[in-house]
Amino acid sequence: MKNIVVLVSGGGTNLQRIIDCIESGEIPNAQISLVVADRECFGLQRAENSGIKNVLIKRGKDFSENLSKILPEDTDLIVLAGFLSILNKEFCENFSGKIINIHPALLPKFGGKGMWGHHVHEAVLKAGEKQSGATVHYVTSGIDEGEIILQKSFDISEHETPESLAEKIHAIEYEIFPEAINLVLNKDKW
Ligand code: GAR
Repeated sequence: MKNIVVLVSGGGTNLQRIIDCIESGEIPNAQISLVVADRECFGLQRAENSGIKNVLIKRGKDFSENLSKILPEDTDLIVLAGFLSILNKEFCENFSGKIINIHPALLPKFGGKGMWGHHVHEAVLKAGEKQSGATVHYVTSGIDEGEIILQKSFDISEHETPESLAEKIHAIEYEIFPEAINLVLNKDKW
């Protein structure tokens, strides 16, 4: 059984999708051992509702160090599911190859500091992009720069808004996130 730790900052619909996929067997042989939030958010409540251990570690410069202290030793994978703090270099290096993130754009475009949620969608529309999508990638100390695991795109329509983009992107995330988690957990079988 593989042990997953999920980090959240927001509504946690991607967390919910992972919980549901584990329950349905779409993500087999895995369990979420812990959900950590860096602020009060509905993601924590989702964990609580599913009987998953959950902890709030206040965001700030000691976040990574405090997370290291409570991270279960048998953790196989750390999943950033709408997580907004930046993990420090030491943490990223200690868990290299074991941390993945979902990003609401087609990296390497529209990534980096400050590029999260609606900021990304607004920047994509402002730039007149023809396509957007979602990316799952490994986390390294360079923000949104780690190796891409999976990416899926769609054509932006004429009357797109940041809200409509967010909705389409979430739908894509619910597809590629479980798939990427399975790929990473079974990496030795690639
Ligand atoms: C997702 O769209 C995710 O890609 C994005 O936050 C949303 C969280 O939604 N992440 C980032 O912007 C990170 N840079 P959720 O809380 O409903 O899963």
